[in-house]
Amino acid sequence: MNYTNLLLEKNGAVAVLTINRPKALNALNSDTLKELSAVLDELGSDSGVKAVIITGSGEKAFIAGADISQMKEFNAIEGRRFALLGHATFRKLELMPQPVIAAINGFALGGGCELAMACDIRMAGENAKFGQPEVTLGLTAGFGGTQRLPRLVGTGIASELLFTGDVIDAKEAHRIGLVNKVYPLDTLMEEALKLAKRISGRAPAAVQLSKSAIQRGMNMDIDSAQAYEAEVFGLTFSTQDQTEGCGAFLEKRKPVFEGK
Ligand code: CAA
Repeated sequence: MNYTNLLLEKNGAVAVLTINRPKALNALNSDTLKELSAVLDELGSDSGVKAVIITGSGEKAFIAGADISQMKEFNAIEGRRFALLGHATFRKLELMPQPVIAAINGFALGGGCELAMACDIRMAGENAKFGQPEVTLGLTAGFGGTQRLPRLVGTGIASELLFTGDVIDAKEAHRIGLVNKVYPLDTLMEEALKLAKRISGRAPAAVQLSKSAIQRGMNMDIDSAQAYEAEVFGLTFSTQDQTEGCGAFLEKRKPVFEGK
């Protein structure tokens, strides 16, 4: 499939997805969200893809938010529809089988911060900047920011960021637990690929079931979540990779996982 606002590259079992609207600092308009939704369906059903990296085009921005020029003309119904499109698209990141890494190479504001928060792992370049500046535009966050930010950093810090619209740097984002680690920008993609490849070398079903247990379990009460974890754990014993992994450990050799 051809995309206008996205670039898709495969690097072995790793798919690298680049939001490609550099003139608008990769701002998300509805066409870009629809393309993103379609490509996530495509990647999610591709068993050859073991991990996905999302980044932004150019060196200035990951994603500078939802597209303000498009939103300026919205009425209430269109605004609601836009939020629902963002919600459905970002939820696909959480529910697709493969782990998704955000390689945040610059501004991650508004919808950009929200997209990063829907990824499983966030790696930031030293130049990255984060914030939910919607209140400075007379808006609230609309692509999940009021929900995912407090879940990630706690309600106090999330409230301060969502009420002020303040922008924070990568170091502060790391301090509050919004990103996993900060890297020099020129090594960010290399490090993201290294991590994605390390994950791709693990037993695919075990990785994907771990993701499912995290994403689904985090929204359940602890008893339901642990019951789900027990089902997931049990399911791994139906895979050849479990026999291989445990066998290789006992035979003191490296496992060779075949994704079966
Ligand atoms: N939407 C549309 N266009 C955008 C954009 C956005 N979110 N962010 C930047 N652009 C455009 C600018 O309009 C500009 O276009 P022109 O060259 O045609 O004028 C181009 O990208 C470059 O931007 P700047 O000249 O502003 O670049 P800068 O380096 O001076 O500033 C910036 C960078 C601080 C990121 C600044 O562009 C900015 O503040 N952008 C808006 C950030 C923002 O408020 N994001 C939240 C949007 S609301 C949202 O996301 C709602 C939601 O939750 C769903």
